Amino acid sequence: MSATGLQPSKLGTKEHWDNVYDEELQNFGEFGDEGEIWFGEDSVDKLVNWALQNVPPKNDLSILEVGSGNGTLLFALAEAGYTADTLLGIDYSEGAIALASSIAKSRNREGIQFHCCDFLNEEPPLLTNTRTVDGAAWDLILDKGTFDAIALMQKDNHGKAPIDGYPLRVARLLKPGAHFLITSCNFTEAELQDKFMTPATGLRYHSRIPYQTYTFGGRSGSICSSVAFVKPAAT
Ligand SMILES: C[S@@+](CC[C@H](N)C(=O)[O-])C[C@H]1O[C@@H](n2cnc3c(N)ncnc32)[C@H](O)[C@@H]1O
Repeated sequence: MSATGLQPSKLGTKEHWDNVYDEELQNFGEFGDEGEIWFGEDSVDKLVNWALQNVPPKNDLSILEVGSGNGTLLFALAEAGYTADTLLGIDYSEGAIALASSIAKSRNREGIQFHCCDFLNEEPPLLTNTRTVDGAAWDLILDKGTFDAIALMQKDNHGKAPIDGYPLRVARLLKPGAHFLITSCNFTEAELQDKFMTPATGLRYHSRIPYQTYTFGGRSGSICSSVAFVKPAAT
């Protein structure tokens, strides 16, 4: 579906996510159920493989997931060899942070940091070992479904869509030469390129992760898109 036709929905409200994570936290406490894997396990495997190839584990990395939910992607990165203290998840729902932190404890992955932070309005905290370059802190920023959720928020009183400020925030937080990897089911690859590769962000296309495609009504597409962008290194 074209993102330009998206209507505001409850998925764009904090209240919705607070309710989701309150329930998931209760289920985790009662049954050990870690909650929904957004876009499925296959997408998590593909994202981890992309990271291993393009931003391999190193002790001085700083990796941020925006809207980390139950933390599935960060746990998978830790399983794949990324040191826990190089990983930070932020989410604006306190319930998501409580759930991810409880899962981290149960998996002995307490070194992964989870912090409550509204990405659109607050600065993500820095990891202890982060070296900033020109004020930018992150070697890799991940988004799996969060830009999609933000795209479903109501416009503000001035008619401005909250999503419009997102690409520039990402670009500002990336170190020169660092990557942003986004997975979306609401935006096509071309739409993501349009949103993130602007003169203001300076981001460039890096690569895409292929998913199974379908053909319908003579047009081909895939259920979700994962696209990586890179912030050019300073010259
Ligand atoms: C579709 S869920 C995806 C969660 C997780 N990335 C995953 O793949 O399981 C979207 C997440 O974005 C979070 N979120 C939405 N708007 C946010 C914002 N402004 N700042 C931080 N997190 C936000 C929600 O609380 C929710 O956890």
